Amino acid sequence: MSGNTGLIVLAAGKGTRMKSRHPKVLHEAGGRSLLQHALAAAIGAGFSPADILVVIGHAAGAVRARAEAAGARCVVQQPQLGSGDAVRAARKPAEAYARVLVINGDMPLVSSRTLRALCDLLEAGAAAALATAEPAESRPYGRILRDPATGRVLAIVEDQVASPEQKAIRELNAGFYGFETARLWPALAAIGADNPHGEYYLTDVIAQLSRSGAEIAGYRLPDPEEILGINTRQELAQADSLLRRREARRLMEAGVTIYAPESVRIDAGVLVGEDTVLEAGVELRGRCRIGSGCRIGAGSLLTDMELGEDVEVLPYSVLNAATAESGARIGPFTRLREGAHVGAGAHVGNFVELKKARLGAGSKAMHLAYLGDAEIGADSNIGAGTITCNYDGRAKHATRIGDDCFIGSNSTLVAPLEIGARAYIGAGSVITEKVAPEALALGRSRQVEKPGWRRRRDKIAANRGG
Ligand code: UD1
Ligand code: CA
Repeated sequence: MSGNTGLIVLAAGKGTRMKSRHPKVLHEAGGRSLLQHALAAAIGAGFSPADILVVIGHAAGAVRARAEAAGARCVVQQPQLGSGDAVRAARKPAEAYARVLVINGDMPLVSSRTLRALCDLLEAGAAAALATAEPAESRPYGRILRDPATGRVLAIVEDQVASPEQKAIRELNAGFYGFETARLWPALAAIGADNPHGEYYLTDVIAQLSRSGAEIAGYRLPDPEEILGINTRQELAQADSLLRRREARRLMEAGVTIYAPESVRIDAGVLVGEDTVLEAGVELRGRCRIGSGCRIGAGSLLTDMELGEDVEVLPYSVLNAATAESGARIGPFTRLREGAHVGAGAHVGNFVELKKARLGAGSKAMHLAYLGDAEIGADSNIGAGTITCNYDGRAKHATRIGDDCFIGSNSTLVAPLEIGARAYIGAGSVITEKVAPEALALGRSRQVEKPGWRRRRDKIAANRGG
């Protein structure tokens, strides 16, 4: 974007219809806040973050923190007297630009393509440009009034003040606009607040400009879904499902197989390689990076996960902020927690939990184990029921297990602990001391056997008449 165009995001409103303690623009759809969607579309259209002005007001501190974290600048609108008043609040910094786009901050489906189209219309000489659509469902949005003879845009009429004939108009105002700034300020100064809410409507600027003979370009959204603004929880859910369907489509176009795409939930920005298969009900959240040729089993929930190639995740695994190298096999019902690492070709099975634990290449922990703060070498076998006792009530301690070890079932490994390479731990042991390489360690009481015990017991019982 040329340094001559700025972009204003309107994000000061309370969002009363959400009935929420949180500001509306920080509610999430498709894994990102509404504000993040607006900023991402702007940045995708070529705006540098410094050219994005976010108008904040309600819960200003929280919204400011998010906007500034993305590099945008904030201006405060206090009190909030309507969308027109909000643009006025941004006048000082916006005056530096020859043109500005203005977008409602509650429109998570807005695309970069739409913002670029509005810029193009301004650059082609329009004094103002606005996006419109005729969605299948009617919505209580501003109606676009056009001159019946010429088709020129004359005004936007808000739903609350529209006559029955105007309400029948199907072309709606999306809430994305572009203005030549020199024409915008006088038009904004001329609008009143003579409406049921006593607010200064930005949309009234269009009638002002039209009366003064300015050219107002309408841009019909190629994808009418973009017009979905979020005012209620229902609309939030609708946007969430549209965004996730969009992400599923994006991945399928990139060569990912998705069974039951209506059932998967994929956050924006997740990366998945070719020929990976996502089974029904999979959720990929946050910053997942998944290689090619993987298979993610039904009902698995992955957050911030990094998987190499040909990794198999069997159903109902919950994997969070961990990594798995190529050829690893995980699940079903595995839990990986932050900092877990599954080496190449390693297997982690059902009801195994790993936290800050590295399982070396080719190692296996197949059933019912807790491995925390542990480093396990290559080709070791961790028996069913093995527990690393990493916490003594005060501090966490580490367990180190070498290559090619065999840890018998139901071993209790009390950290800090080191087990040398190729060592064996007898099943059921409680191991509290360092085990040397190649050694067999047993930490359990010796078995006691009493020959003929059953016969003697039965005889005693019979004598008692039992
Ligand atoms: C607005 C449009 C309507 C359009 C619809 C599309 C107006 C008057 N109407 O209606 O024509 O069809 O969006 O979704 O603009 N805001 C502020 N400060 C304020 C008031 C609002 O920053 O004082 C912000 C809100 O945070 C929101 C945006 O402006 O992001 C739009 O406000 P909202 O109340 O949601 O307007 P709608 O009734 O949806
Ligand atoms: Ca709205």
